[in-house]
Amino acid sequence: MKCKKCGETAAINMRQHKLALCAEHYLEWLPQQTQRFIEKYHMFGPEDRILVAVSGGKDSLSLWDVLLRLGYRADGLYIGLGIDGGVDYSHQSYEKVKQFVAERSGQHPDMHLRAVDVGQVYGATVPEAAQISNRGHGKPCSVCGLIKRHIMNRVAYDGGYDVLATGHNLDDEVAVLMQNTLHWQAGYLARQAPVLEASRPGLARKAKPFCRFYERETAAYALLRGIDYIYDECPYAEGSNTIYYKGLLNQLEADRPGAKLQFYLGFLEAKASGLFDRVQEEVELNACEKCGQPTSAPGECAFCRLWERIAAYKAEGRPVRSLPVYAKSL
Ligand code: AMP
Ligand code: FES
Ligand code: ZN
Ligand code: ZN
Repeated sequence: MKCKKCGETAAINMRQHKLALCAEHYLEWLPQQTQRFIEKYHMFGPEDRILVAVSGGKDSLSLWDVLLRLGYRADGLYIGLGIDGGVDYSHQSYEKVKQFVAERSGQHPDMHLRAVDVGQVYGATVPEAAQISNRGHGKPCSVCGLIKRHIMNRVAYDGGYDVLATGHNLDDEVAVLMQNTLHWQAGYLARQAPVLEASRPGLARKAKPFCRFYERETAAYALLRGIDYIYDECPYAEGSNTIYYKGLLNQLEADRPGAKLQFYLGFLEAKASGLFDRVQEEVELNACEKCGQPTSAPGECAFCRLWERIAAYKAEGRPVRSLPVYAKSL
């Protein structure tokens, strides 16, 4: 297979675009496409301050790298979840993020990494909080999502950033889309988009500049660009719905190249034509009495209630343990 631009040996073949590229041209193509998506979906402009949520994985580190290469003012946010899972997951991922910053800070003296360690700041790690919480049926993912969303929003909003960017790729978006469609979650479908506006005070604007790239494309970018990232998935993710749907969608894609992209772009077109407008019922949001972040619950938000429950649990002198990884199969 030859590169379509220069005829050299191709490093990647993208069947859905009928496009094969060598390493050099691929490393040019992906940032150009990213810039195209940023403009098409009105994500942000050259003057905006961007906070990139970086997990240490291929998507978010590649995103930060691309935004810096495109000349954006982009800082990073790493959230230390305190997940060990036998592979020292959180520690390893933080090391990858720090290494990424160390390699670039000479060339980009303005870039900053903000780090929030959940265990240190709030007094329990994510697996500990999950063990005490009544959310998530023995898996920490729901508590983890709640905590990450709150911290990302708080750091972006309080830090005065114009937008919070996450590394969600097409496979992530399509897996969520498929779940929401199978369950006809019209409200979720109405809200799934490349950009979420900051619809009220306290909410940060959110963007997903990689939402049209396949996972293998972001992985190829990271590899060809020499970005060292954490290969392991979160040890709690095994057996999750998302992984199940990603598997199904990959089977579909293998038989019908481009099916995932078509499904997603068709959905965005349907949305743009107003298909979900009637569903866009405004959820009543109030400011949480404790932290001030918007919440649909009366009084305190789910995040504050979680930590109150943990404080009460600890006050009774009960032991705080980490949720074991094998809890997923119980
Ligand atoms: P995930 O929910 O793990 O698929 O991650 C989706 C996106 O959330 C990633 O691409 C990152 O932008 C962000 N993210 C996930 N975990 C973290 C973390 N520990 N710290 C900061 N950002 C994260
Ligand atoms: Fe949050 Fe796995 S990353 S539970
Ligand atoms: Zn080439
Ligand atoms: Zn709150």
